[in-house]
Amino acid sequence: MSLPQKVKIVEVGPRDGLQNEKEIIGAEVKVELVNRLSQAGFANIEAASFVSPKWVPQMATSAEVMAAIARKPGVIYSALTPNMRGFEAALAAGAGEVVIFGAASEAFSQKNINCSIAESIERFREVAEAAKANKIRLRGSISCSFGCPYQGEVAPDAVADVVQRMRDLGCDEIDIADTIGVGTARKVQGVFERVAKEYPLAQLSGHFHDTYGQALANIYASLEVGVAIFHSSVAGLGGCPYAKGATGNVSSEDVLYLMQGLGIETGIDLDTVVDAGQFISRHLGRKAVSRAGNAIAAKRAVAAN
Ligand code: HMG
Ligand code: MG
Repeated sequence: MSLPQKVKIVEVGPRDGLQNEKEIIGAEVKVELVNRLSQAGFANIEAASFVSPKWVPQMATSAEVMAAIARKPGVIYSALTPNMRGFEAALAAGAGEVVIFGAASEAFSQKNINCSIAESIERFREVAEAAKANKIRLRGSISCSFGCPYQGEVAPDAVADVVQRMRDLGCDEIDIADTIGVGTARKVQGVFERVAKEYPLAQLSGHFHDTYGQALANIYASLEVGVAIFHSSVAGLGGCPYAKGATGNVSSEDVLYLMQGLGIETGIDLDTVVDAGQFISRHLGRKAVSRAGNAIAAKRAVAAN
């Protein structure tokens, strides 16, 4: 099968990336990061998370961030909303898309959102109805689709079951997430082939953390089966507070370099993303976790001398 000619890359660094930072990052830094990413051409940026600040303190400034960003026409700014309280906050903040996030593993569901999978779907139902009533895009995210830090193996049928439930809630897009980065290429293809029996492939996305260094291979494998939406994080920021040892999402710079090489259109300017990655890495006081980003930055430094 030929690869898609065009893909959508959803930038999740300001949320999935920064949520895991121990030191509280000022809202002004988050705002500048989001603005740099919209300038780079991302049409969908996960900028906020309206969860309990006791659970994820770093996201407590989400309303402030959403109020201060320079909104670029056409860009969707997304927010995580685990319940109605989160939805109301996202609505007030002007989120263009709300994200309900569940899991394919019971153990992870309990650790991350303190309820069973079935309970989470009931909680999401109200959020889904409110999103529809307010004409806000609704995305569903399914953690541990390729393995769970607590329970180990996760069967493709378990992922498909949650996909069906999220489809029935009216999700416009569903993320198949590798929270702890354990998936490998053939397994990833198998899961996408299984879930595509329940929900249109064109609305499924691949959300890969790079813990085991498999994310780019998994993205290529997903492209081979027709997946055309991917999540990535500038400078490879991130992890998950409820999956110890999990590292960041695949870096946006690496994904864009791959897409460029494959001649796949993204609408995003890699150089501007490299600048954004260097900006946030300088702020965090460490090197970007992006091979392509660091290579491009190093090449520029040589050229400047
Ligand atoms: P709970 O303790 O079961 O619920 O938490 P609760 O209703 O008893 O609320 C507890 C406290 O939080 C209360 O405050 C509520 O008012 C408050 P208190 O009375 O103790 O002072 N609260 C809220 N505050 C602000 N906004 C809200 C909100 N809701 C309740 N929306 C809950 C249940 C879902 C709230 C909690 O478990 C939670 O916030 N979990 C979030 C965990 C999280 O954010 N994880 C990271 C994001 S998911 C992820 O990264 C994976 C993903 O990237 C995909 C992948 O890679 O797998 C998406
Ligand atoms: Mg994630």
